[in-house]
Amino acid sequence: SSVKELVESKCLSSVPSNYICLENPEDSILNYETDNIPTIDFSQLTSSNPSVRSKAIKQLGDACRDWGFFMLINHGVSEILRDEVIRTSQGFFDLTEKEKMEHAGRNLFDPIRYGTSFNVTVDKTLFWRDYLKCHVHPHFNAPSKPPGFSQTLEEYITKGRELVEELLEGISLSLGLEENFIHKRMNLDLGSQLLVINCYPPCPNPELVMGLPAHTDHGLLTLLMQNELGGLQIQHNGKWIPVHPLPNSFLINTGDHMEILTNGKYKSVVHRAVANTKATRISVGTAHGPKLDTIVGPAPELVGDDNTASYRAIKYSDYIELQQNHELDGKSCLDRIRI
Ligand code: SIN
Ligand code: FE2
Repeated sequence: SSVKELVESKCLSSVPSNYICLENPEDSILNYETDNIPTIDFSQLTSSNPSVRSKAIKQLGDACRDWGFFMLINHGVSEILRDEVIRTSQGFFDLTEKEKMEHAGRNLFDPIRYGTSFNVTVDKTLFWRDYLKCHVHPHFNAPSKPPGFSQTLEEYITKGRELVEELLEGISLSLGLEENFIHKRMNLDLGSQLLVINCYPPCPNPELVMGLPAHTDHGLLTLLMQNELGGLQIQHNGKWIPVHPLPNSFLINTGDHMEILTNGKYKSVVHRAVANTKATRISVGTAHGPKLDTIVGPAPELVGDDNTASYRAIKYSDYIELQQNHELDGKSCLDRIRI
């Protein structure tokens, strides 16, 4: 059953044993850095002033190389739309279990899939998270309930794709490539966009569980927003850093396929989400990847003079299966294709 149902059906005073994870998420952040992740100003990235734009592209490249995570501000997506996405997402999880279970897909590529934990067929311990995943591009899919949810999501994911297209142009330029290099090489006209909405209900003992264990994202870029509650932590220089996004910003991170394509120049960073005692945390991520049947390997243009590719080429959909069919063991799925 879902975590939400577990929390609401009983007056839960302690965590059931099948959710208790060995690693205490609080242990490893004792000496976290106070550094915050870089901020990229989208309005500068799209500026008609060439020197403003090229400075922003340089900052974008530095953020991808040094952090793999950044906040995006002045992005032009309205607060009204963002709030509506969070509100209707909460509305989806507030449907009855029976209504939600209509979307309880078993298959990875089901257009809409509601579930709990990460992959209950491989997880050894369960995670404090319920989710809804929808494939939203090239074909848009979303549940028809609650009212307005699907329309809100469609508007939101379209805006998200516009931002990502622009960011990928900036990233291509930052790598010394043509502006549309990534778009063309990754077949982005038919690119995959996967919407993942996470629901982390309040937990009586957050230090005993994991919301979402350490992992990296497949795809090129992930765009993430959340309600007012924190919980995301990223690994940087061997330490866990809790991320506190600026109000109304997006969190963007480079995914495994950016690391593969750039032959490791831009790394896909390990991150996780922890639970909290206070209230339900909602996060909304969209993973933007190549067209599903695109075979992705390091771009020869980026492999360098020594000609050594660090990853083997693999079809995007096969990579997703590779990641989802193995337990999340705190490492990156990239380790499976590293040469
Ligand atoms: C994710 O990594 O997919 C979600 C992270 C979050 O909930 O902040
Ligand atoms: Fe993630």
